[in-house]
Parts: sequence; C-alpha cells; structure tokens
Amino acid sequence: MEKLTNKVAVITGGGSGIGLATAKEFIANGAKVVIFGRNQQALDEATRELGAMSYGIQGDVTNLTDLEKLYSETKSKFGGIDVVFVNVGQGKLAPIAETSETFFDEMVSVNLKGAYFSLQKAIAHLNPNASVIITTSWLNEIGFGGSSLLSASKAALRSVVRVASAELAPRGIRVNAVSPGPIGTPFWGKIGLPDKILQGAAEVITNQTALKRFGQPEEVAKAVLFLASTDASYITGHEIAVDGGINQI
Ligand SMILES: NC(=O)c1ccc[n+]([C@@H]2O[C@H](COP(=O)([O-])OP(=O)(O)OC[C@H]3O[C@@H](n4cnc5c(N)ncnc54)[C@H](OP(=O)(O)O)[C@@H]3O)[C@@H](O)[C@H]2O)c1
Repeated sequence: MEKLTNKVAVITGGGSGIGLATAKEFIANGAKVVIFGRNQQALDEATRELGAMSYGIQGDVTNLTDLEKLYSETKSKFGGIDVVFVNVGQGKLAPIAETSETFFDEMVSVNLKGAYFSLQKAIAHLNPNASVIITTSWLNEIGFGGSSLLSASKAALRSVVRVASAELAPRGIRVNAVSPGPIGTPFWGKIGLPDKILQGAAEVITNQTALKRFGQPEEVAKAVLFLASTDASYITGHEIAVDGGINQI
C-alpha cells in the first residue's frame, strides 16, 4: 500500500545518497517530491531518474533567499507541503587543535545554520499534520577523533528536533530525526581523507558495527518513509538510528 499518496515532500540534498534514495522511496509511495541541492547537473540527472513526480530546485542551504525560493516555488507548483526531509550535511574532518575559524564557520554554516533555516523557512508552508525529519548522525553520541564540528552540529540538530516538536505539536506537525550510521554514499569521498586512510578507516568502522557492514542509503530511506507516514503518527521529538548497531555494542 502506498503510504504517501498525493503528499508533497521536499528533500534537501535530494540529488544523491540518502536524499536520492528517500526521493525514490517517497515517489514509489505516491508522493510528489521536490529535491534541492547546489549542483544543477546532479539535480537534472536525479529528476530524469525519478520521473514526472519529481522536480529539482537549485540552491544552497546557507543562503536564506534560496530556501525561501525552495518553499515558495514548491507551494506554487504542488500546493502546501506535507513532508520536509532536512538532510543536507557535510562531513569534513579536522582535529580541534588544527581547526581554523574558516573551517568552523563552513561546517556550522552548512550543517547547523543550513538545517536550522531549512526547517524555519518551511514552517509557514507546512500543512496541518505534516512531518519533518532531520538527518543527524551516529557521531552525535561518541567521541570520534576529528569529528568535533560534524558531531557538535548534529548533536545541536538533535536538540533542535526536540524544541521544534514542542513548538509545532499544536498544528499536529511531528518533528523527528533519523540518525544514520556508516552508509555507503558519496559523503565519504568528500570528507577530505586520502584514499588509503579512508579505506583503513572504513575497515575499522565496519568492524565496529554489529552487522559488520556499511548500510545502504535505501535502508535509511525506509526509516524516513516510516517517520514521514501516518505509521509514525504518535512519534515526535524522537531520533531513530539506522546504524547497524554501531552505537549499541
Ligand atoms: N553517509 C553516511 O555515512 C552518513 C552518516 C551519518 C550521517 N549522514 C548524514 O546524511 C546526510 C546525507 O548525506 P549522504 O550520505 O547522502 O551524502 P551525500 O550523497 O554527499 O549527500 C549530501 C547532499 O547534500 C547536498 N549539499 C551539500 N551541501 C549543500 C548545500 N550547502 N546546499 C544545498 N545542498 C547541499 C549535496 O548536493 P550538492 O553538492 O549538489 O549541493 C548532496 O546531494 C548528511 O546530513 C550527512 O551528514 C551520512
């Protein structure tokens, strides 16, 4: 049975990885889906793959005008919004001792400010009983060397989810987080580590998961679909981990 028939969904970072897998899952369940990202070519390729129920809007989450355009254009094209998946994030690493102010500002700007205003600018356009899902990370909860800004920005989003769930509950709007563990997406190629070190890190991380493998973006998408749908109608302010048990053993 389709779980999002006639629903309108917006996915930031919907052109690749977890966002794209979720767009596919939503469309397979009857939704119209707007995907948002910086790279027009990636959006064009994704919408070609996703088909007629998808629409791409180019922009940057760090630019508030782009975010206003994302939601106003979505509303003019499809009407009020039922699901927002606030999913953009980047995972560049640096030890605290070597973190520059520029690097700090970039990470906080994309991961925290970008997600915060992706949520804020959506609020006026949300239908009653809408669902918001924000992507956090398994790194919320552990001390993974080099990840201070990635971990701190995602932990801050975990907190924003709780506050937003309180503020939006009077409209029946639910706000939850999905917390991926290590997932095989283009994310890992962008963290700035040489291939050999990345491969070594991937082996160590794989061994730390209970299931001894990286997850697939489709496995996260299934959890996002659950949170987006009425199957999760009594769940708000929560975080669902899709992490192969990495933080449990
Ligand atoms: N993969 C993992 O192991 C893992 C684990 C824990 C959490 N996560 C989280 O999962 C989320 C999705 O990541 P992913 O693994 O699917 O990686 P991904 O394939 O790199 O997806 C990130 C998407 O965000 C877009 N994006 C990046 N910066 C942007 C900006 N400033 N404005 C607009 N769009 C932007 C990228 O497109 P453009 O470059 O075209 O803009 C891309 O489509 C992120 O929040 C990440 O922190 C991932």
